Amino acid sequence: MVPPRGIEPRSSVLQTGAMTTSAKAAINIPMNYYYRINYHNPVINDIIDLNTLKNNKLKLYNTWENYYVRTSKFASKDALSFLQSIGLKPKPMCHFFVGKPFTKSYIHLDHYKNHVSYAFNYAWGSDDSVMKWYKFNDQNFCPVENKQIIFKPEDVTEVEQFKFSSNLFLVKIDSPHSVENNSNSTRYCISIRCEPYISWEEITLRLQDYFI
Ligand SMILES: [Fe+2]
Repeated sequence: MVPPRGIEPRSSVLQTGAMTTSAKAAINIPMNYYYRINYHNPVINDIIDLNTLKNNKLKLYNTWENYYVRTSKFASKDALSFLQSIGLKPKPMCHFFVGKPFTKSYIHLDHYKNHVSYAFNYAWGSDDSVMKWYKFNDQNFCPVENKQIIFKPEDVTEVEQFKFSSNLFLVKIDSPHSVENNSNSTRYCISIRCEPYISWEEITLRLQDYFI
């Protein structure tokens, strides 16, 4: 397999084909909530017209804006062909988040049914944007039963966080999470969702050679 321009498999596993999928599955990969992707070409298009967002604002929760936009207008052709090259099918629409200076999103799940476990996020505009993950304090809490996607800070405990850099990240979105913009400039982020709808464990196994 010849990776598209800008893509470098991290290990020799893909190149040699020596390890089967079942052999990979036997490896005990530690649970992570995010991975930096070894992709170095532009993720977003050169020109993004923020004025077009006014008509299709999806939802405003506190000061964190969430828009639903056409993927091909925001994501670069290189980024989309990279995702396709690793067997994924980007959805025609993606999320675009605008976080004003010193604001944060709610602690949330993207969907209480959790059938979408992963997203490819790329953030820019802020040099201090942090994504955090949480576990429920009540181990028996079931979001599906409660049809709940937004949670109070006192109902969860933080388990992981990282600061975005200028890379494409694979992030887990079926655990409670939040994002903060701790800088005095506006933070922008596109979040590309793909098929197949597979579990976090499956997607991380599939992409492990592209993590850095
Ligand atoms: Fe989210």
